[in-house]
Amino acid sequence: MINISAKLEEALNRTLIKVFPKENRSSKTASILKGSNLVPASKPEFGDFQINCALSLAKEIKQSPRVIAKQIADQLQNDNEFIKICNPPLIAGPGFINLSINSKTLISEIHFRLNDKRLGVPLKQFSRKKTGEGKINNRVIIDFSSPNIAKEMHVGHLRSTIIGDSLARVLEFCGYEVLRLNHVGDWGTQFGMLITHLKEVVPEALHTKDVVEISDLVNFYRKAKKRFDEDKTFQSKSRSEVVNLQAGDQDSLIAWQLLCNQSRKEFQKIYDRLDIKLTERGESFYNKFLVDVINDLKIKNLLINDQGAQCIFLNGLVGKDGKPQPIIIQKSDGGFNYATTDLAAIKYRLTPPPHGDGAFRLIYVTDAGQASHFYGVFQIAKLANWIPAHCQIEHVPFGLVQGEDGKKLKTRSGETIKLVDLLDEAIQRARKDLKDRLKNESRCENESFIDQVSNTVGIAAIKYADLSQNRVSNYQFSFDKMLSLQGNTAPYLLYALVRIAGISRKGGDLNKSCNNFQFNEPQEWILIRKILHFDSIVAEVEKELLPNRLCGYLFELSQIFNRFYDQVPILKASEPSRTSRLALCSITADTLKLGMSLLGIPTLERM
Ligand code: ARG
Repeated sequence: MINISAKLEEALNRTLIKVFPKENRSSKTASILKGSNLVPASKPEFGDFQINCALSLAKEIKQSPRVIAKQIADQLQNDNEFIKICNPPLIAGPGFINLSINSKTLISEIHFRLNDKRLGVPLKQFSRKKTGEGKINNRVIIDFSSPNIAKEMHVGHLRSTIIGDSLARVLEFCGYEVLRLNHVGDWGTQFGMLITHLKEVVPEALHTKDVVEISDLVNFYRKAKKRFDEDKTFQSKSRSEVVNLQAGDQDSLIAWQLLCNQSRKEFQKIYDRLDIKLTERGESFYNKFLVDVINDLKIKNLLINDQGAQCIFLNGLVGKDGKPQPIIIQKSDGGFNYATTDLAAIKYRLTPPPHGDGAFRLIYVTDAGQASHFYGVFQIAKLANWIPAHCQIEHVPFGLVQGEDGKKLKTRSGETIKLVDLLDEAIQRARKDLKDRLKNESRCENESFIDQVSNTVGIAAIKYADLSQNRVSNYQFSFDKMLSLQGNTAPYLLYALVRIAGISRKGGDLNKSCNNFQFNEPQEWILIRKILHFDSIVAEVEKELLPNRLCGYLFELSQIFNRFYDQVPILKASEPSRTSRLALCSITADTLKLGMSLLGIPTLERM
């Protein structure tokens, strides 16, 4: 209802100017009336919108709030645009004004939705706002997933992947150009030991194509690390290997590529299964910019030499011991840090093409444990004046994934869970649930149906369980909960869609339009109002980057639809109710499908 609320807001502003002429307003009154005075109703029984300013004005203009509310309400009734949209305002309680949209407007909105693929969500039109370099700017970067080469991609990365992908989908749908960047950890001192180990164990790999399949890279990493910890000569070899690699030595680079490719293959398996698109641009990409970062910070007098290391001390950043904690930008041996790379990345991402990405909004999706890292680098980037006034940079943190016992998620034997195993188990369990259900219902389905349904439900359940939580809190991973057909789960939403597809299979034409919709049942109006809220929810997610808002909305929509389905006859209704109700089914299905696609969740016609 974005367009309706905008129209109401305008009508309200016209009204407020009439009741409280601008030239007579005290500064307090002006400040109360500044900004938006129209808010969504706090409960459905209060209507659609509320105006609460009478209460805050009462003290200032020394009148009873109900009297003020009445003045506003009466004046609203004189506004032609207002009376076209709204039923007469109702004054409630101490002086609230409740507004409900009239049925004519609701019905015309339903007509509009029926033919609008975007379901009311406006496509952002970008003003040719100029940046320093005169470029047009609608580009957003979402830095997400970002696992580390030669290490296991863990549940934290899975969370980042799922949340980041959903945010990308929402922003893309709103009309932004989204660059989905996978900032993989593909550089750093650990490559010294990995390459040294590789050269010793499979030296032929460097010169013969495809001879090596380091299938278990994680074990390979473990072995290299063990040798590094135990063997002094291995250690010094590893150190000089890092120097070789940084100097661009041919063999070292081949070995490095080999390790990266191997990891990349493993990561890609997960991305394919989750239907995630990402552009890899790892830490190594920024190597060539690191020296510039140091120089720039030096020129701006931000660096302090602390025992040979180049550091920045930020106000308020203290360590566990209470002493000021430096952010090390360059180590005393000349090496760079995670933070240095992130500084180079910020600079590159904000610099207009051809020397950078020219994005105006940077979003980083990582676990909350990295909050102080991002706070630090964002602060430094601000101090260095790298963030133009129209740009925005934000960390989107999320909590830990825990087992049902509230502890770190582990296998029964206590090891860290592999992501592939996690996905497999979700699918297997979905398969078992499905087979049980088929048996109970004496239904017979072929293998390909069973495969397709269990795959979709398993993946949907994993994604939805993650997205439906407020990302800031820790989340308890439970196969039983996420696969349940009851509650705020993917199967529950999928099932609502399946019901609607069933109506269509039983002969309900979901594509029929008509210009004589008629609604008489309260369940119909509740459903209509819910359907029409979709656009504001998407706008909220775009701003606040909380996909759980969209999940909560889709869940409530499914609940309301299910009540409507259970209580109001659809196929058996007589005209014009039948067509009107089928239209509601059709828009509900479109809304659920679009909403789920914005979450990155596949849907089904039958399950
Ligand atoms: N590789 C890091 C990790 O596994 C995440 C990187 C996040 N992105 C960034 N630009 N720092 O924790």
